[in-house]
Amino acid sequence: MNENIFLIGFMGAGKSTVARALRDEYGMRLIEMDEQIEKQEGRTISQIFAEDGEDCFRALETALLKGLECTNNTVVSCGGGVPMRKENVAAMRRSGKIIYLSAAPETIYDRVKNAHNRPLLEGNMNVEYIEALMKKRLPKYLEAADITVETDGKSALQICKEIRS
Ligand code: S3P
Repeated sequence: MNENIFLIGFMGAGKSTVARALRDEYGMRLIEMDEQIEKQEGRTISQIFAEDGEDCFRALETALLKGLECTNNTVVSCGGGVPMRKENVAAMRRSGKIIYLSAAPETIYDRVKNAHNRPLLEGNMNVEYIEALMKKRLPKYLEAADITVETDGKSALQICKEIRS
């Protein structure tokens, strides 16, 4: 398969873990969007949000995605907000398959509760907030996705197999 795979889903849904497993199992190239943006900007995501605002970060995401249209055999672990913009979804669709990784808010909370690299969750680190934001975003995730994979209780390898089956 030469097609790219875009993993979308809420923060902590397991996109990075599954992306690494797809790279290791199937020899795909891996792009971690947040990491790539941090490298390119020489700043953390939190610094970009604090210094230039969320809109600037969103523009960097869109530019990165549009620049990927000529790549192939690449798995892209997308930031959780990527499918909120129509032009991002269109760019992903032009160059690959979009996989939505879903997880319960409690699972997400467990995975992200000790991290401090997600500005949207700073000061909002609780299941209620996660659940409310997830509910708001869900229609966009579902609309963008070619396939939805539920991840609760599954290993990264199992999820990989579902994606590639
Ligand atoms: C965001 C998710 C984060 C990161 C930024 C905003 C979001 O990425 O892009 O903090 O809007 O959901 P992960 O989904 O990789 O945590």
